Amino acid sequence: MTRKVTKAIFPVAGMGTRFLPATKSVPKEIMTLVDRPLIQYAIDEARAAGIKEFIFVTSRGKGALEDYFDHAPQLEAQLRAKGKTKLLEMLETTNMESGAIAYIRQHKALGLGHAVWCARRLIADEPFAVILPDDVIAGEKPCLQQMVEAYEETGGNMVAAMEVAPEKTSSYGILDVETDMGSMVRVRGMVEKPPVETAPSNLAVIGRYILSPTVLENLNNVDRGAGGEIQLTDAIAAEIQSDKGVYGYRFKGQRFDCGSKSGFLQATVAFGLARDDLREDLSAYLHDIVSMGKAAE
Ligand code: G1P
Repeated sequence: MTRKVTKAIFPVAGMGTRFLPATKSVPKEIMTLVDRPLIQYAIDEARAAGIKEFIFVTSRGKGALEDYFDHAPQLEAQLRAKGKTKLLEMLETTNMESGAIAYIRQHKALGLGHAVWCARRLIADEPFAVILPDDVIAGEKPCLQQMVEAYEETGGNMVAAMEVAPEKTSSYGILDVETDMGSMVRVRGMVEKPPVETAPSNLAVIGRYILSPTVLENLNNVDRGAGGEIQLTDAIAAEIQSDKGVYGYRFKGQRFDCGSKSGFLQATVAFGLARDDLREDLSAYLHDIVSMGKAAE
């Protein structure tokens, strides 16, 4: 029997330089897709997967992120007084149970592995999830929930996986596949951001993980890896030889790289089109500009 996964780490300490100047004062995770901040998508996905404890690894300047998860008594009172029940209900879905969120500060930007290691005392000896809010995944069943279900069969360590264009391997952790079982692969190696020439495959790690607590111990020992940073990929790779093993899970759903401007814009359009209140206007507009573009050719 695998132990239930009830804790998740959200590494949110990054400076978000790709979105400057916006990120001068707005944490990247508060940037909105339609009307919900990126972090809300990550939290909703975690909740759907049964996560009860939410651990944010933050840094300087992320105050707005902490405030976002606080109750907003004045705003709520105003909405109540005006009888805006729909808005009130929507706001309430963002409230978190007291004590469910913990914030840990990452004092130095030493990489994703280091950020996760900063949360080690709160994880203690339980399996845990890691969600990178930059990777937004739309799907009928939320990605982490799919993984939790698969993990109940395998135990060990599991990473979300997706085929990427071969020339993109240098942007991802890449899996060396030992056995391919279709929706799941067993992994015999993992490399962080290999150039296309040496990449063992084009099966990339996407920002959802279910990890054994021993990964946190491995993080004590891994050397600095790609980019001079302490890499989570290297600490997971150290698990491959253990009896627990490492699995890649090909999730069902569409992933948007909201760490890039183009990915963010694509997600905005896709999530806009998915909304009943916006679909008609937005698709008419998109249709118009696309046909105008064609006419100009
Ligand atoms: C991180 C991980 C990488 C993974 C990627 C997924 O990289 O280090 O292994 O493939 O997230 O988005 P980052 O994008 O933070 O550089």
